[in-house]
Amino acid sequence: MADIRFDGKVAVVTGAGGGLGRSHALLLASRGAKVVVNDLGGAPDGTGESKMMADKVVDEIKAAGGEAVPNYDSVATMEGGANIIKTAVDSFGRIDILINNAGILRDVSFMKMTEESWDIIFSVHVKGAFCCTKAAWPIMREQKFGRIIMTSSAAGIYGNFGQANYSSAKMALIGLGQTLALEGKKYNIHANTIAPIADSRLTATVLPEDIRKKLNPEYVSPLVGYLCSEQCEETGGLFEVGAGAFFHLKWCRSAGARMKPEEVTIEKVAENFGKVVDMSDAKIMGSIQESTMSFMENV
Ligand code: NAI
Repeated sequence: MADIRFDGKVAVVTGAGGGLGRSHALLLASRGAKVVVNDLGGAPDGTGESKMMADKVVDEIKAAGGEAVPNYDSVATMEGGANIIKTAVDSFGRIDILINNAGILRDVSFMKMTEESWDIIFSVHVKGAFCCTKAAWPIMREQKFGRIIMTSSAAGIYGNFGQANYSSAKMALIGLGQTLALEGKKYNIHANTIAPIADSRLTATVLPEDIRKKLNPEYVSPLVGYLCSEQCEETGGLFEVGAGAFFHLKWCRSAGARMKPEEVTIEKVAENFGKVVDMSDAKIMGSIQESTMSFMENV
């Protein structure tokens, strides 16, 4: 297969000062994309800021012969999102690829979770993706090309102890990606979501040393690269990715139980509950129309 390249394309990678974002930025730049390396440069919990992280990655890209500029705005405000995209347009004349990757953690059991630790997680992950995408969207629509990545997590898909805030925010990003895929389709704007697993400062405390070595972020970025390429037709997808393994996730639904609506009681639900939760004849569900139709069939 011929090399997949991004010559003439401009990419914004948020939170690209380290970990996965850095890896995505380096890969896209090595394949010809001009890259905006956004990073606020704070600590893993979102406190503080520094220009050093973004600057370092820009230097790395330039040293390898690529083109990149830094941006230090927070993704979490409308002004920040607008400025991040403006950096791409002012520096390189366009924006084709947006990788919403910036993220922080505020892990604590739900019992101890404060409003502040809920809000800050939502503002960086969900509002951050909204603010950046909102600024890029009209430009992508106008040029009839756009590739957007949301960064979700297995914590969102499956739940994870101590991460009620983070898992809720990561699940929200799946919804955002799926709806943008529908709204962007006729403008050739694709939106896909990844749930990665990789060694980074966010996973440094939870993964053992020997496993971390096998989870280089570089093993995730090729999927991001492919999803952002002109060649790729996938949109609305959700992928688990890491350590060289790649999986596509879909919602599937049990064959379920059907009753006459006017005869439904708690006891009938109890009697049929085995059928409701029996996944042996489960079917993959592809759209809200398909979902709605199955209720209409019962009316
Ligand atoms: P990381 O901490 O190395 O990268 C996150 C980057 O986002 C940091 O460089 C940080 O400075 C930046 N950032 C934080 N708040 C920001 C803001 N408001 N504006 C701009 N930049 C900001 O961690 P990692 O692991 O590379 O995380 C990247 C993304 O992948 C995150 O969204 C994370 O939740 C997600 N993820 C990572 C997993 C993993 O196994 N490493 C697992 C599942 C999801």
